[in-house]
Amino acid sequence: MRMKDKLVMVTAAASGMGRAGVELFLAEGARVCAVDVDAAGLAALVRQLDAGDRLVTVEADLSTAGGARGSVDAAAEKLGGIDVLWAHAGAPGPGGIEDLDIDAWQRAVALNLQSATLAAGQVIGHMRKRGGGAIVFTASVSGMVGSMWAPVYSSCKFAVVGLTKSLAQTFAPDNVRVNVVCPGLADTPMKTGFTGRGVSAEVAAENEARMMTLVPMGRLVRPDEVAKAALWLASEDASFVTGIALPVDGGFTCR
Ligand SMILES: NC(=O)c1ccc[n+]([C@@H]2O[C@H](COP(=O)([O-])OP(=O)(O)OC[C@H]3O[C@@H](n4cnc5c(N)ncnc54)[C@H](O)[C@@H]3O)[C@@H](O)[C@H]2O)c1
Repeated sequence: MRMKDKLVMVTAAASGMGRAGVELFLAEGARVCAVDVDAAGLAALVRQLDAGDRLVTVEADLSTAGGARGSVDAAAEKLGGIDVLWAHAGAPGPGGIEDLDIDAWQRAVALNLQSATLAAGQVIGHMRKRGGGAIVFTASVSGMVGSMWAPVYSSCKFAVVGLTKSLAQTFAPDNVRVNVVCPGLADTPMKTGFTGRGVSAEVAAENEARMMTLVPMGRLVRPDEVAKAALWLASEDASFVTGIALPVDGGFTCR
């Protein structure tokens, strides 16, 4: 068990890759706090995983400063500390930048970048108390190469990679490692926010198929494949790994 008795906080945990992470960290022996804005989704998670007091939840809107910071303190209180933070929350944001809706831009920055920054700033004190820890952020392949269709999202995710490389240096003396996973297009509800925005299901399927031609391994990423990468980065198996952006993308960013 690679996470025996570790205290782990996962955000955006009620669905998709975050949910897969909750399952995996539990299976590896951790106690987990699942954080999400979706109260019903969290309740369903608790029912379905049936992990007793090894799984606790915090309902929070991470796009607000209060939610991003407060959820860390609430998770630390419920778990009795935090060893690992997987700050996974994010969202596609607006498409083009002509006639950009500034509120939509700010919402995208708030959830993709501000929430990660504030959570890390809040968790470091809790990790110091435990003698160290590991932070894993979620960016995207769009944080490693530009995205023609999602410039706002891409610029936020590049910033999350910059945050990772900066905090890896800042927090190293605290024995806290900081890394980021960069998934390719993943088989989760969020996928339609990239390939299906404002188009019919048929066109969305065509967009997805076109994207898959750019993936050497030719398919979507499964949620558990990203969760496994996050778990590896958080575990002692990666004890000398800090500041890396790890693509989980079937080769999409190779070119
Ligand atoms: N799905 C993809 O194709 C893809 C690809 C690369 C990166 N990502 C990144 O992965 C992360 C999540 O993706 P997923 O595919 O697992 O998503 P998902 O759609 O399966 O789940 C997203 C979760 O986030 C929660 N959420 C939404 N807004 C929130 C808020 N304001 N506060 C708290 N929780 C909130 C939702 O309730 C939901 O449970 C994001 O950071 C996203 O940018 C996704």
